[in-house]
Amino acid sequence: MEHPKKNRRSSASSNRPNLWQSRFRKGLDPLALRFSSSLGVDRRLWLEDIEGSLAHLRMLARCRIIPPRDARKISRALGEIKSEFAAGSFPPHAISRDGRFSAEDIHMAIERRLIDKIGDAGGRLHTARSRNDQIALDERLYLRRITHDVLAALRKLQSAFLSKAEVNPDVLLPGYTHLQRAQPVLLAHQLIAYVSMLDRDHERFTDCLKRINRSPLGAGALAGTSFEIDRTMVARELKFKGIITNSMDAVADRDVLIEFVANCALTMTHLSRFAEDLILWSSEEWGFAEIGDAFTTGSSIMPQKKNPDIAELVRGKSGRVYGDLIALLTVMKGLPMTYNRDMQEDKEPLFDAADTLLDSLNVFSAMFPTVKFNPARFEGESDYLLATELADYLVSKGMPFRKAHALVGKIVLECMSKNLFLRELPLSAFRRHSVLFDKSLWRILHLRASLAMKKSAGSTSPKEVKKALRRWKKQLRP
Ligand code: ARG
Repeated sequence: MEHPKKNRRSSASSNRPNLWQSRFRKGLDPLALRFSSSLGVDRRLWLEDIEGSLAHLRMLARCRIIPPRDARKISRALGEIKSEFAAGSFPPHAISRDGRFSAEDIHMAIERRLIDKIGDAGGRLHTARSRNDQIALDERLYLRRITHDVLAALRKLQSAFLSKAEVNPDVLLPGYTHLQRAQPVLLAHQLIAYVSMLDRDHERFTDCLKRINRSPLGAGALAGTSFEIDRTMVARELKFKGIITNSMDAVADRDVLIEFVANCALTMTHLSRFAEDLILWSSEEWGFAEIGDAFTTGSSIMPQKKNPDIAELVRGKSGRVYGDLIALLTVMKGLPMTYNRDMQEDKEPLFDAADTLLDSLNVFSAMFPTVKFNPARFEGESDYLLATELADYLVSKGMPFRKAHALVGKIVLECMSKNLFLRELPLSAFRRHSVLFDKSLWRILHLRASLAMKKSAGSTSPKEVKKALRRWKKQLRP
């Protein structure tokens, strides 16, 4: 299990006792260390951890809890460690996962490096702090940063949908319910529906930021600290909107993290549905859309195939993010107050959800502009989906809607049995069903007429769609 010699770069930090070791007679079993270390996962938080430490340090110095000389040394060394991470030269033995490394987590790895660099002075940084409030802080800093990335990626995809709507203002397609043709709609109308869904996602992430943006630092392990620290100063330094006042709450909860992942899951649901539409549209049966070559793949056996793999993977990856959410909820549900080591398991699902969502948003934004629509695809199609218009026609001539609905049902049945479209049935045949039918019937029996006849706000009438396009463009203008 242990290879004390192999790969060792420096004897300084391998196989050294843990920083909390003194109370123990024996070191941690290597298997237990490997099992419990989160370094392979939480090393991603190096920047947040160092920024948090620097703010804590400035506060400790300002409150005269540590001497200015030591504060300067620590600050300089932390700067160096930051550069080491940025350059990828942070001592690799400290972050390997082969069961031989020395640190339990990113906090320990950095603190040990600090002490290696400047000795005892480095040991002062952790005054008035616990890893419990430290990790809570790092996670909030990460959540804040990544939320801004998600918000920008959402806006980008909204713009991609809007641009497509703008260049295809007249393309129509059947709108579906139960995956049965229901009523004609404009493609632009459906794309604006996506834009609007993503807007609520944007709103949810923005709202969550309010709760993310509070500093837990200064809660200590759970009970606060006997040092006269200034929690508000740390919060200000890190541009938080305030502190999480109750020290137990500050270290015990992961609700904002769960909320963030829940938002990721919901957004993935939206993406998955958009992907599904795109996959259907690009099938030979639909023949409505073609995804650009750069975002499709061929088959290793069937030369004719062009597969929408990227859209399928977006749909498939929604499953991972739901898994992440369930994992987090399950980790938290039975935990007694306050911190429990179980909570270390929160990082993998968090990173996975954030990475998956960002990748999916970005790949969708890149793929969607390559999609070409076939504008003529549905023009000459079956007009059974005008049945509602036909019923409305009879209503406008005085027939109660229920009766009109039943009557049009019979007309559709007749057309089906004669293998005719509605517009192919002679007026005399219509009049056998009702004398309310006259020549004006032909004005409504085509797909575009149905669009133009819509009057309600937010409908698919070209006028309403144009209005919506204008409004969204204005709203999303950077
Ligand atoms: N790696 C730990 C985590 O992510 C940091 C907090 C450790 N606290 C402790 N009391 N062992 O949860």
